[in-house]
Amino acid sequence: MGERLKDKVVFFSGAGSIGPGWGNGKAAAVAMAREGARIFALDVNADAVEETASIIREEGNRVETFVCDVSKGDQVEAAVKACMEAFGRIDVLDNNVGVIDPGGPEDLTEAQWDRLMAINVKSIYLTCRNILPIMTKQGGGAIVNVSSIASTHSLGYSCISYSASKGAVNAFTRDIALNYGPKGIRCNTILPGLMNTPLIHAGNVTSVYGSTEEMVRQRDALVPIGKMGDGWDVAWASVFLASDEAKHITGIELVVDGGITLKVK
Ligand SMILES: NC(=O)c1ccc[n+]([C@@H]2O[C@H](COP(=O)([O-])OP(=O)(O)OC[C@H]3O[C@@H](n4cnc5c(N)ncnc54)[C@H](O)[C@@H]3O)[C@@H](O)[C@H]2O)c1
Repeated sequence: MGERLKDKVVFFSGAGSIGPGWGNGKAAAVAMAREGARIFALDVNADAVEETASIIREEGNRVETFVCDVSKGDQVEAAVKACMEAFGRIDVLDNNVGVIDPGGPEDLTEAQWDRLMAINVKSIYLTCRNILPIMTKQGGGAIVNVSSIASTHSLGYSCISYSASKGAVNAFTRDIALNYGPKGIRCNTILPGLMNTPLIHAGNVTSVYGSTEEMVRQRDALVPIGKMGDGWDVAWASVFLASDEAKHITGIELVVDGGITLKVK
């Protein structure tokens, strides 16, 4: 066990995984606990967050769970209150929750658009609205927002609501970094590339490629280092940005993509 996040309390949004295996959120929550953090693990899916929590507990680390929809203001307020009751402080906010709906404006319904924006963007506003005053009072903190290379590049198919939402996450990050830097609060975003996580096997993305095998083959072939990344690549980037090792780093977009955004095709 490491000490890179020793004694820090992490409010982790989206700590479960959408399917079996290691998603970005599940891996990052476990990695942070392994580095000494106490984890307040939040997810809308009770079974998913419990699975992550049981791994953290079995490894002898501290975790509390909370089930809520992070796109709903009253539920986020209750979650932050519960975290403060359990741990008395919040040092790190990890905004990992994100969903994807492939398609362009003519494919997506208004309800789909609103739902995705609420989960991917409004949720970050809500957690920050509730947690920034706590970090300000404490004299500092670190926020890690999970975006995507879809915010800056095409994924090869249209997913306009997802791309637009992640672009908003990047802009949100810069604004918080600038305005809360003087209060000792850092805010950074991670841009994962093509990752082989349970999220892409859950249906929405597979449908774009026809089959799981074809999806993995095509996505691996696109990455300069030869294959997609996984949840642990995002996890270790999250640990770094959350830790004091990154004390002079704020407002950045940390690209974790095996080099894919370096090339034209
Ligand atoms: N996997 C990839 O290929 C990839 C690539 C780029 C970016 N990302 C980004 O990584 C992040 C998540 O990755 P992951 O692998 O952990 O995904 P995941 O879907 O496996 O896990 C996310 C968790 O968030 C939870 N969740 C969803 N909606 C919620 C809500 N409204 N309230 C509370 N919890 C909610 C889910 O139940 C799930 O347990 C997202 O922001 C995603 O956009 C993923």
